[in-house]
Amino acid sequence: MSDIKHPRVEKDRFKILARALFAYVKPYKLRFIQAAVSMLCLAAIRGGVVYVLGPVIQGIFIDKNLAILKLVLIGLPVMFIFRMAAEYTNAYLMSWIGQKVIQQIRDDLFTHIHRLSIEFYWRKRSSDVMSRVINDLNNVQSTIQFIPLYGIRDVLTVTSLLGVLFFINWRFALMSLLVLPATGVILGILGKKMRKASSESNVIVGEISHKFQESLQGITVVKAFNYEDEAIRKFRVTNDSYFSKMMRYLRATALAGPLMEFLGSMILIAIIYLGGKAIFAGTMTTAHFFSFVASFFTAYMPLKNIANLNSKLQMGMASWERIHQILDEKPTVVVTSRPKNIDILEGKLEFRNVNYKYPSRDTQVLKNLSLVINPGEVAAFVGPSGSGKTTIIHLLLRFFDPVGGRIDVDGHDLLDLDTTDLRAHIGLVTQDTILFDDTVYRNITIGRKDAPMEEVIAAAKAADAHDFITAMPLGYETILGERGIKLSGGQRQRLAIARAIIKKPKILLLDEATSNLDTASEQAVQAAIEKILGGRTVVMVAHRLSTVKNADRIFVLKKGELAETGTHDQLLAKGGLYKGLYEAQS
Ligand SMILES: Nc1ncnc2c1ncn2[C@@H]1O[C@H](COP(=O)(O)OP(=O)(O)O)[C@@H](O)[C@H]1O
Ligand SMILES: [Mg+2]
Repeated sequence: MSDIKHPRVEKDRFKILARALFAYVKPYKLRFIQAAVSMLCLAAIRGGVVYVLGPVIQGIFIDKNLAILKLVLIGLPVMFIFRMAAEYTNAYLMSWIGQKVIQQIRDDLFTHIHRLSIEFYWRKRSSDVMSRVINDLNNVQSTIQFIPLYGIRDVLTVTSLLGVLFFINWRFALMSLLVLPATGVILGILGKKMRKASSESNVIVGEISHKFQESLQGITVVKAFNYEDEAIRKFRVTNDSYFSKMMRYLRATALAGPLMEFLGSMILIAIIYLGGKAIFAGTMTTAHFFSFVASFFTAYMPLKNIANLNSKLQMGMASWERIHQILDEKPTVVVTSRPKNIDILEGKLEFRNVNYKYPSRDTQVLKNLSLVINPGEVAAFVGPSGSGKTTIIHLLLRFFDPVGGRIDVDGHDLLDLDTTDLRAHIGLVTQDTILFDDTVYRNITIGRKDAPMEEVIAAAKAADAHDFITAMPLGYETILGERGIKLSGGQRQRLAIARAIIKKPKILLLDEATSNLDTASEQAVQAAIEKILGGRTVVMVAHRLSTVKNADRIFVLKKGELAETGTHDQLLAKGGLYKGLYEAQS
């Protein structure tokens, strides 16, 4: 937890951030002006109430004036109704603006993370992104809502109160000019301490949610490896540190209330003492004295808020910075402004001296890879795990770009294509299938939303999935995903294959697509795949060499380099790496 600091944003950075945040508030200028006007009204009314309160109390309790008593019954309620209306209006408008702004930011965040390249997801922990979306956004919302309330409403209120005080007794008003800021400073120091502790605990809340998430997702491994105790022990360290951070915060809070009350009482005593002396000396009227007391009570909360203005702003900006960092991320896979048209694709693939290295690692994963796959061919990549097979599949999808050399599709450099156009032609089946919280039908048709039911059924049949789908209570309308029905690895994989079939891609990428199936269903699915292979280019990665036997061309990879190329028979005859792998398996 050494990286915890009191959030403070650099000056220059602050400007940039403020401008970016301001752009979000700008569309609501009109509402903001309305809110500001109601704040002005509120401040004026608060000053007015203080101004009349003194004479009213004097009139009723000292002069025993019945007329004033009657006036109170009509006049004061009207004033308080206006005050209530003004208070409601600006509080409502500011929370409306705050909510509207974060709704927009949340929307932008969700959209933005979908525009980012895969590389972003390698770097960022999902719980970290989540905590920004939840906690930090919350802080930003509260900053947007409260900064104007503290900075405008409360400053106006205190100004208006001071104005009234100066108007009725400038000598005494000067004195309160000393008392009021001093109160503010003390309140501010307490508030700052509280905020510091609270922002530290926010970081730990993120850590706690990460630990929960890790155990929830990995529970089978946690249990199978008796890892519970260790996981619990590690969690406790975090949980304990949360407790002590939280207690620091709560100690500050617990102390703050009584301390402030004490402080307030002392000031009240000072006012009574000095006011009393002034009344005895005849330099102040009783009425004015009461106005002073009333203004002290009215100014208390606004002063407290003003004193906390800066730390609240700092905290909000620190949170906004964390959100802005994500919004500021740029996709590493850049689409040219004038992508080539590939509405019609043959499906020829060519690697020319392709090199690749993951940003986080020093070793080169693919080295000078050159190869051609002709339209309609079935090409297979085999090789030990870690040899770069999945990396090749991901390069074809343009999840990231080669660091050297180029990859062509139909003679077009992948860099000249729009990723959306490219991926529209590609079907992908991987080892682990991601299912969404949606129906079977919608899960199959994510690549082709308008697919007619007959075709979906045909695809499911081809993928050997139709039978288990119809065996479920709601058939194709059964909800899958985290909140839905759980499927076996093989069932998921068959859905993935149906998903790829229904898309009718020109290029089909199969990354260990049948590795989760038992031998019988593997053969069935293999047959299904072979049925739909016609007319498309297929790149398959397989661990079990029996599945690549029929491929037109087999590429054998070894540590990112092309070790051998040929058909199954040619490679066996060669007696090299492939033969060794094949014999080891049979
Ligand atoms: N996101 C990543 N970041 C860093 N290294 C990676 C990443 N993905 C894979 N690698 C590394 O690249 C090498 C090739 O991986 P991969 O293409 O997945 O191999 P294969 O699919 O042949 O088993 C491995 O050494 C692996 O550790
Ligand atoms: Mg792999």
